[in-house]
Amino acid sequence: MTVGVVMPAAGAGARLGPGVPKALRELAGEPLLVHAVRRLRACPSVGPVVVAAPPDAVGDVQALLTAYDVLVVAGGAERQASVAAGLAALPPQVWLVLVHDAARALVPVEVVEAVVAALLDGAAAAVPVLPVQDTIKRVGIGGEVLETVPREDLRSVQTPQGFRRDVLEEAHRSARGWMTDDAGLVEAAGVTVQTVLGSPDAFKVTTPFDLLVAEAVLRRG
Ligand code: CTP
Ligand code: MG
Repeated sequence: MTVGVVMPAAGAGARLGPGVPKALRELAGEPLLVHAVRRLRACPSVGPVVVAAPPDAVGDVQALLTAYDVLVVAGGAERQASVAAGLAALPPQVWLVLVHDAARALVPVEVVEAVVAALLDGAAAAVPVLPVQDTIKRVGIGGEVLETVPREDLRSVQTPQGFRRDVLEEAHRSARGWMTDDAGLVEAAGVTVQTVLGSPDAFKVTTPFDLLVAEAVLRRG
């Protein structure tokens, strides 16, 4: 079963601060997007890759990725729209889809393969997760603590998130409003999402602090 990748990379990176779009910000001399594509390309099970780029950077991004055999399309104003654009551009032979944030530039191959393995085992959807480490509290509008949320059954969710293509396409078609991940759409459609073990290395570069961490992770190898 052919596995395709949709990589949303069209975000501005507002939380990273002013500068080029986040996927084009450099880590050890190369854009985050190049790191992310290289990781996915290193996975034996990965076939066609579609990148959703900032609309005004499609040509530049295609040029940047010539060595990696990817198709670049224009992303949308919301992450979900970028994923939908990438999904529409996947070739017809793709049956299983991995949606992977360009911002999770250092995802290990093992995490990708664990998601694929869950799909090949029969899951309609699979996501990598880690246990939540901090104590979590719900806070009111005045900053006062309302409650402490038991964390035993809470998980932080990463990407790549894997889906049967028909399930993901139907979830996007029937989506009402914007969600921050694709599994959320599939859950809303009533489909069971399986979890697999993620990795600290698959963290999302969101703030300037995360770029420092990413450099350290790269150095560690
Ligand atoms: N993304 C996208 N299209 C958008 C918004 C986000 O393709 N309209 C992508 C980002 O490029 C990123 C991934 O979705 O790879 C996760 O989003 P996030 O970490 O929120 O990135 P940004 O939206 O770029 O960052 P910020 O929210 O700080 O602006
Ligand atoms: Mg965002």
